[in-house]
Amino acid sequence: MARVEMKPTQIQLSKAEVSDEHRRAAARALDSGWYILGEECKQFEAELARYFGVEHAVLCTSATSAITLTLLSWGVGPGDEVIVPSLTAFPTAEAVYNAGATPVYADVDERYGMDPSHAEKLVSKKTKGIIPVHLYGQPVDLDAIAALAKKKNLWVLEDCAQAHGAKWKEKRVGGFGRAAALSFYPSKNLTVFGDGGSVLTNDGETARKVKQLRDHGRKDKYLHEVVGWNLRFNDIQGALGRVSLANLDRYNEARRAAAARYRAGLAKVRGLELPQERAGGFSVYHLFVIRLLGKDRDEVAKKLAAAGVQTGVHYPVPCHQQPAVTSKGKQAALPRTDALVKEILSLPMHPLLTESDTSRVCSALQEALA
Ligand SMILES: Cc1ncc(COP(=O)(O)O)c(C=O)c1O
Repeated sequence: MARVEMKPTQIQLSKAEVSDEHRRAAARALDSGWYILGEECKQFEAELARYFGVEHAVLCTSATSAITLTLLSWGVGPGDEVIVPSLTAFPTAEAVYNAGATPVYADVDERYGMDPSHAEKLVSKKTKGIIPVHLYGQPVDLDAIAALAKKKNLWVLEDCAQAHGAKWKEKRVGGFGRAAALSFYPSKNLTVFGDGGSVLTNDGETARKVKQLRDHGRKDKYLHEVVGWNLRFNDIQGALGRVSLANLDRYNEARRAAAARYRAGLAKVRGLELPQERAGGFSVYHLFVIRLLGKDRDEVAKKLAAAGVQTGVHYPVPCHQQPAVTSKGKQAALPRTDALVKEILSLPMHPLLTESDTSRVCSALQEALA
């Protein structure tokens, strides 16, 4: 009898829990008859503010719109420069362009976060602020960022799209700057099963302006004080987000447990560097990014795919090398970022990874590197 080759089940790069609690919440919102910026959104905003320890959460359609609206509410625009890391999702930089300002790209430090000492060298007379990104769920050195901001009189807008629940010295990120942005995209630690985002801030005036800009610049129903947008959030996703938020700490613990298993399983494997946690930081492992030393990254990814292990690269092309950016003008090389993007590989990371999944990933990786 011919042998039937069984394909291994795939271990996904990311996955979110969908529970009966989520199903009930979506049904509740559907039956409520109020679908945009209603009670579910109000409750979600209040619960987000409480969780992140800030005065205000203002929901909108994405982290991209959260950053754009925040910059616009502060009057950031043409002629202004904003320092951002180049190793981030392009939307961090895109939001700065959308506001009419110019991003200036900083290199990474040894933990893959924005390097504060390089950022300092980029400050010019035009610089208005810094957008540090807590990349892969790991907080940047917020003490160094705060010191730089104070020294140069800059605002800080934390990009927390990948870091819901991460902590810097026991305090959750999202409350360290003048504002912060969250994303609820499906792969994120806190999702609404679609697009979504929020601004977090302790500044009442920022919250008021962002609320106005997300809703056609309205002062009241038929009075438009400024020209805004329609970047409002909706109640069905608000209800889903409330359930995800209530379970966020459990999801993050499951991610951290999976990371610990990877660390144990890969400790003795040669030819790779595992992610290191920054002293003072509490990472929520949005991604588990390894660095392959002296190996063909794409070849390793292919072997892992053949073994049923999905991987990703975050990010293969850093912002300062994107055609959308280089077409605007020549960008300075960023030696660490330029080297890193050729070597990094994201292993599966989500709260539903089992012990058998992580051990399969470790074995497959060991074989791929042998
Ligand atoms: C670091 C970072 N910033 C911003 C964004 C943009 O988020 P959104 O897709 O919600 O606009 C993302 C999402 O990929 C991200 O990872």
